[in-house]
Amino acid sequence: MLVPFSSPLIEADEIREVTKVLRSGWIGTGPKVQEFERKLSEYIGVNNAITVNSCTAALHLSLIVSGVRVGDEVITTPMTFAATSNVITHVGAKPVFADIKKNSWNIDPNEIKKRITNRTKAIIPVHYAGLPCDLNEISEIARAKNIHIIEDAAHAFGARYDGQRIGSSGNLVCFSFYPTKNITTIEGGLVCTQDTHIADLIKVLRLHGQSSDAWSRYSSGSAKSYRVTHAGFKYNLTDVQAAIGIKQLEKVNRFLEIRKRIAKIYLEELNGVHGIIVPVSEAENGERVWHLFTILIKSEELGVDRDVVMAKLNEIGIGTGIHYEALNLHPFYQNQYGYHDGMYPVAEYVSARTLSLPLSAKLTDEQVIYVIDRLKSILKG
Ligand SMILES: Cc1ncc(COP(=O)(O)O)c(C=O)c1O
Repeated sequence: MLVPFSSPLIEADEIREVTKVLRSGWIGTGPKVQEFERKLSEYIGVNNAITVNSCTAALHLSLIVSGVRVGDEVITTPMTFAATSNVITHVGAKPVFADIKKNSWNIDPNEIKKRITNRTKAIIPVHYAGLPCDLNEISEIARAKNIHIIEDAAHAFGARYDGQRIGSSGNLVCFSFYPTKNITTIEGGLVCTQDTHIADLIKVLRLHGQSSDAWSRYSSGSAKSYRVTHAGFKYNLTDVQAAIGIKQLEKVNRFLEIRKRIAKIYLEELNGVHGIIVPVSEAENGERVWHLFTILIKSEELGVDRDVVMAKLNEIGIGTGIHYEALNLHPFYQNQYGYHDGMYPVAEYVSARTLSLPLSAKLTDEQVIYVIDRLKSILKG
């Protein structure tokens, strides 16, 4: 049985809506993007939901509008995808890693405190695997020092913190709609903010720094040309992608429920199995979503290496992932900033043992049971 690590659930209505847009004569950024943004802001409970073409773009623009510049420092977790810290480099700032907590694998507020200097301009916490991080504690630290928070919520679409949807905190909050994510637009991203002035600036920056986009000019019936007010970027989403996103958003509760049910099966079957650590099932202050189901393989107890387990699963057609190899272990961060191994003991412990099992809204219970069964027998040796 083939079990992909993750595959998007695309149904007849997404295909129908995409076809309609393709036939409509307007396939770029236009009315569908506007409709998607309106629906996203209602779902999240935020004044402004601005779509872009990736979460990477969302993070990059968030750093720019937060005023992060050359010579500044930005604190983030080493247990994340490279995009989170690459964008810090793109604005000329230095990524400063702070170790993660042993249980949640989210950034540790106490470690953040230790890394703050007078050059620290922002903190980018990641809601790892869909588990909300300690936003209250991080906010307290940031407020006291006048530091911006940019939440990397690439994994956390649909999660809640203190009863409110992630995205509505008042920070800049960035989401991803990549194919493996909780909802997808193929490629796509989102910045949320309660601040309408900041939102207006992001809208200008996402499209070449132009004061108005082509659809606004066309639909207002005015031939007035735009003004270039900033050296902006080409980060806009298209109507074809937004048409997929609108349909995906209608189904988000179902998708999240399926992911939750699968995670429950994994938890029931794997919790207590010798040599495995399972993820935290609920956040202290929030309601998690299940973007990833990541376990730790304690090779020292099992006598079998994580990479061997992964290779054996892959050999029989079960897709897996590593989320993540700690960023201080990657050549770019070592060569550019002098990071090395041994600096982040918790992240490095997780990094050497982490293994993400198949999880998506398309996965069947039968596939999940098969994965569990094969994994258990590989671990027995
Ligand atoms: C934690 C995290 N941040 C940022 C990104 C970048 O998202 P995108 O691929 O939409 O640019 C990802 C993508 O997987 C991610 O996992």
